[in-house]
Amino acid sequence: MLPAASWRRMMEELNNHFKENIQLKPTVIKHITGYLVSNSGDSAAAGAAGRIALRGLRPNADLQRITETPYFKDEHGFLANRVLEEWVGSVANCTACHVGAWVGDYKE
Ligand code: HEC
Repeated sequence: MLPAASWRRMMEELNNHFKENIQLKPTVIKHITGYLVSNSGDSAAAGAAGRIALRGLRPNADLQRITETPYFKDEHGFLANRVLEEWVGSVANCTACHVGAWVGDYKE
C-alpha cells in the first residue's frame, strides 16, 4: 500500500524509524529493501490492487505512513475517533479489525 520510493526512504532512515533506531546488517537491509520494492504498490507484482491503493498520490511520493494515503483515508474516514482510541488503540492496529491482515487479506 506504499510506493517503492516510500520503502526506499524508510529503509534509508532506519536510524529514525518512527523514533526507533533499527540496527541491521547492510546485507539484511539490502535484502529487505529488495523485497519491499519488488512488492510495493507501484510494482508489477501489486498490479491493479496496487494502482488502487496508490491512487491520488503525487508522482514520486515517498510518504511513510499507509494511513496518510488518500485511499486509506477514503476507506477508513467513517470510523469515529472513539472507536479507534478506545476499542483498537490506533488505526495502525490493522489486525484488530482485519483478522486476515497477516496474510494480506483486508476484506473482513
Ligand atoms: C477500527 C477498524 C479498522 C482498523 C484499525 C483498520 N481498518 Fe481497514 N477497514 C476497516 C473497515 C470497516 C473497512 C471497510 C470500509 C468500507 O467498506 O468502505 C476497511 C477497509 C480497508 C481496506 C479496503 C478493503 C477492500 O477490500 O476494499 C484496506 C486495504 C484496509 N482497510 C487496510 C487497512 C490497514 C493496512 C490498516 C492498518 C494500517 C487498517 N485497514 C486498519 C476497518 C479498519
